[in-house]
Amino acid sequence: MNHNTSQRPRILSGMRPTGELHLGNLVGALQNWVKLQDEYDSFHFVADWHMLTTGYDNTLDLHQDTWEMVTDWLACGLDPAKATFFVQSRLPEHAELHLLLSMVTPLSWLERVPTYKEQLENIRDHDINTYGFLGYPLLQAADILMYKPRYVPVGEDQVPHVELTREVARRFNQVFGRLEVKKRSFQEWLQWGEGKKEMTSPPDVNPEQFWLDRYYRASLDGRADMLNRDVGTLEPIFPEPEALLTSAPRLPGTDGRKMSKSYGNAIFLTDPPEVVSKKLATMVTDPARKRRTDPGNPDICPVFDLHKIFSAQGTIDRVNRECRTAEIGCLDCKKLVAGHLNAFLAPIQERRKPFEQDPQKVWDVLEEGTAKARAVAQTTMAEVRAAVRLT
Ligand code: TRP
Ligand code: SF4
Repeated sequence: MNHNTSQRPRILSGMRPTGELHLGNLVGALQNWVKLQDEYDSFHFVADWHMLTTGYDNTLDLHQDTWEMVTDWLACGLDPAKATFFVQSRLPEHAELHLLLSMVTPLSWLERVPTYKEQLENIRDHDINTYGFLGYPLLQAADILMYKPRYVPVGEDQVPHVELTREVARRFNQVFGRLEVKKRSFQEWLQWGEGKKEMTSPPDVNPEQFWLDRYYRASLDGRADMLNRDVGTLEPIFPEPEALLTSAPRLPGTDGRKMSKSYGNAIFLTDPPEVVSKKLATMVTDPARKRRTDPGNPDICPVFDLHKIFSAQGTIDRVNRECRTAEIGCLDCKKLVAGHLNAFLAPIQERRKPFEQDPQKVWDVLEEGTAKARAVAQTTMAEVRAAVRLT
């Protein structure tokens, strides 16, 4: 069943509430969301439970960080008249679905998620050897499947999670899908089943349970199609969503590493012009260009990466030329990018103002969106409970 009342295909994506967003969040995800909201029935949520899977020991700022992040969504042009915004923890349906999915998810599927071992080793400041952290990609699967979206717009690092979501959907469908069994008499079943692996005993007691069980085993070795032809049809509960890869350009922070709040190298959307200029002034450049008279190489300079995203073509061409001949110095080059960047941020900061003056406006947007999301989540869960026979 498709809950999508509008004609547009649905997308769903979430973001952890990390507080004020930076240029990397904008270029890596938010700009894409804004672009997609006209084409798709968009659902976007604050993944606050996801924040707890790694940051359970620091929840003091969760409330304020949620407000800051959603205000930045609004400031960047994500429009509540077009897209549905909601908060994950306001919908316990997500936890219920996570639990039910966990019943059919092999532990090994979670252990082999690439980010799992990586983060276990990398996160040293607190213990994430927890059940919640291992299960976090499955919680994400529940977030996604709940809304039966066609696409999940994500960055490259999240693609394995969408893959896992597809596998979990497939398995859940095989175990709990609604089966329309062809009407056959006991004798006909016996005849049909002669010599077939599926028919170790005829479906005399409860044909549906009998065939669901066979379906499940056949699907494990890729023979579900045969059953579909001869036995009946298995109606999936969850369609399999696809990742919609955001092809974001590399956005370096002031130290040249990937921009990230936790690295302390970020330029925030809320940074006033003086702060942007100051951060840029300390930004690393081509390390070989030590003196003003040394020629530089913009191809390896993180400042030039910013030019390519935020500057006008004329400036980009000029820097690309004059850096190599040492005609332009790094200080002037950085002033140019600061100008373009500040001009880019000005309207975003302007759009933030009414929300800063009346913070309740942001909570109202979330309240309304959460109600819309709840209607979808409740419909899905009614269907899921019926499939599992928890009625
Ligand atoms: N795991 C994602 C991240 O850390 C956030 C997220 C949670 C998400 N649930 C999601 C993204 C569902 C897309 C769809 O960035
Ligand atoms: Fe980088 Fe600009 Fe300096 Fe060239 S002039 S090294 S592009 S900051």
